Order: sequence, then C-alpha cells, then structure tokens
Amino acid sequence: MKKLKISALAALTSVLLLSGCSGSQSKEELTFKDAFEGKFLMGTALNVEQIAGNEPKAIEIAKKHFNSVVAENCMKMENIHPEEDIFFWDEADAFVEFAEKNNMHIVGHTLVWHSQAAPWIFVNENGEDVSREELIERMKNHIQTIVGRYKGRVDGWDVVNEAIEGDGSWRKSKWYQIIGPEYIELAFQFAQEADPEAELYYNDYGVSGRAKCDGIYDLVRNLLEKGVKVDGIGLQGHLNFDIPLISEMETSIQKLSSLGVNIMITELDMTIVPWPSDEVTAEVSLNYELSKEYDPYSEGLPDSVYQQVMDRYTGFFEMFLKHHEKITRVTFWGVHDGNSWRNDWPIEGRTDFPLLFDRNYQIKEGVDDILEMAKDWEMNQ
Ligand code: XIL
Repeated sequence: MKKLKISALAALTSVLLLSGCSGSQSKEELTFKDAFEGKFLMGTALNVEQIAGNEPKAIEIAKKHFNSVVAENCMKMENIHPEEDIFFWDEADAFVEFAEKNNMHIVGHTLVWHSQAAPWIFVNENGEDVSREELIERMKNHIQTIVGRYKGRVDGWDVVNEAIEGDGSWRKSKWYQIIGPEYIELAFQFAQEADPEAELYYNDYGVSGRAKCDGIYDLVRNLLEKGVKVDGIGLQGHLNFDIPLISEMETSIQKLSSLGVNIMITELDMTIVPWPSDEVTAEVSLNYELSKEYDPYSEGLPDSVYQQVMDRYTGFFEMFLKHHEKITRVTFWGVHDGNSWRNDWPIEGRTDFPLLFDRNYQIKEGVDDILEMAKDWEMNQ
C-alpha cells in the first residue's frame, strides 16, 4: 500500500515536472506568437491542402503558434492567373478567409517574379515576345486585379521577388529584358494604386552575400529617392547547415534597415542534408539527381547533428531578437518537416529536417529554449 502511494506520488511529481508546472506559464504552453509578442510577428507558410482542411494537425499548429500567414503557392502567377483572361480565385480566397477568420496578419506572395510566372504573360499568339507597352499593360492588369480583389484584407505584398543576382547585378529576367529596369518601380506603383494602405515589399534570397546585399540596397535606395513606396525588404531565410554565417546576415539586416524600411525574415528554413552546389541560392528551377550521399538522414537525424541544428537556429533567433526594432516579422517556409519544399528541392525525394516542428507535428526538443529566450529577452539584457 505504502509502496503504491509512493509510486503514485512519484508519478504525479514527474508529470508536474515534465509539464513544467511551476505556477507560472509552463514551457510547454509557450507559443511562438506569445514568446515573440512585442518583438515581431511570427509567421508560417500554408499550402492549399492545409487550407482545404486536409491536414488538421498542421492547421492546429498554425493557429496556436503563428499570427501571420503567407500562401506557399496559390497566389503565384501560374496558379492565380494561368491564362490572360482566367483568374483562379478559389484557393487564394480560401487562404485569405482562413487568415481573417483566425485574426492573422496576411502576406500576399508574390506579384512579379521570374519563376512560376504564367507562360502566356511574355508572349503573343505567335509565341514572340510582346512589346514593352503590352507587357506593362499585362503586368498592371495582373497586379491591380489581384491586389484590388484583396484590398484592405491582405496586409502586405511581396511585390517583386528575386530581381537581383548574386553579384549585385540585375537579373535579366523576361520582365527586365522586355520592360527594362523600370519594371520594378512600375510594379510598386501599380500595387500602391490598387491598395494604398497595403505594405509593399521587395523579397529576395541570398541577401547575406555582400554583393547581392549591396545590389538590393542600391535598388531600394533608388526607388525610395524616386518617391516609390517600398515599406520593407524580405530576406528569404533559406539557410543551409553551415552557410550563411549569422554575422553575415546580421550585417545585411543592419545595412538594409539603414534605408529606413522594415526588415522581414521570410521563408525561414534550414536544410540539413548536403548541399549539391557551390552556389548559395534558392533558385527554384535547380534540379539535381538523387543519390544516397545526398540523402544521409533518411533513417533519422543523429543527436550530434540535431544539436548543431538547434544551436544554429538559436543563434539566428538571438540575432533576430537583438535587432527586433528593425525586424517586423519572421516567417517559416512551411509548418513542419514532413511537407517542407526542402525535401524535394534542389533534389527530389530526400528526408530533410528544416523546420522547428517534426513530421509528427511535435514541436522539436530545444525549441522551448528559443521561446524562453524571446520571452525573457528584456529581462536578460
Ligand atoms: C517554393 C514552394 O515552396 C514550392 O512548393 C514550389 O514548388 C516552388 O516554390 N523562393 C520563393 C518561394 O519566393 O515562393 C519558393 O517557394 C521558394 C523560393
């Protein structure tokens, strides 16, 4: 009897200890949005299956932990405007309605981009490039129809995505080739006309590289000098296991925020599996062949590697917190490891571990330390 009582007491004690029950808010209860409250918004990207209700556990995480959402694909041109006269609204409407119902900040992604553009946009019926005037007209119609539809509902738009190359030069996309460099200011102007209240962003990857950061700095400074409304710069956080250095991204945040615009860490994920190229890029058209060497963790992640990942993630969040006055939002690119695009890019069919929720929809071990650090940030400064 006594023995039973003691083991019952021990069980109760360990339950209390495990749940961190100490009278104050327990570690388990701490969520991203609460921990970072007053610092910056915490966001996640949602895919159409999740929005359609086919992955309720992912949606549960999104509602519990995040106060900002972005659509992973359904607002991109090839999806939302596949033909000149066809706009496909169903998925984007459902995404916006979901976010509104849950009082979430909404980011529209993305209006003008070289990837996932609908093929019709650049050519006439003979397959030849359209004229400059025609492409400007088509771009205007594209932007204003979409931004206009969600006027007052979408809080901010990634107006132009990935216009600068790694060496700081302008990407010679079809937009650039046909319209010339003015396509960017025109895109921002058209978006502003359609919803003067919406925030307008420039978004790009690899911004920790010096030459690229300088190119983006010059681009945005030039736009601001011309009176173009640019509210923020999104630094895509597609990190690798070893690059970029935290200090490299920090330098870019400092430099770009000196323009007086908000900084956002967008598309945050960290690939753990080997990177098959020398180039730091998030160019979605890359496609390398799958081999075992590039998929070493299909049976699981060794503890030592896991620890390094968590340390690196913690270091990034510490740096983001240090600059929280410059940063308005940090958004993960996906909810959990299982459906991250990283499993299929730039090599299809790998097992990667890029996010902070695992394949079983559990918050990863050690994330609570990041959340505690955020919650107690001021206290510890
Ligand atoms: C990715 C999506 O996650 C994939 O599902 C899709 O197949 C390709 O695009 N930069 C961006 C994002 O701005 O839109 C890209 O998203 C990742 C790189």
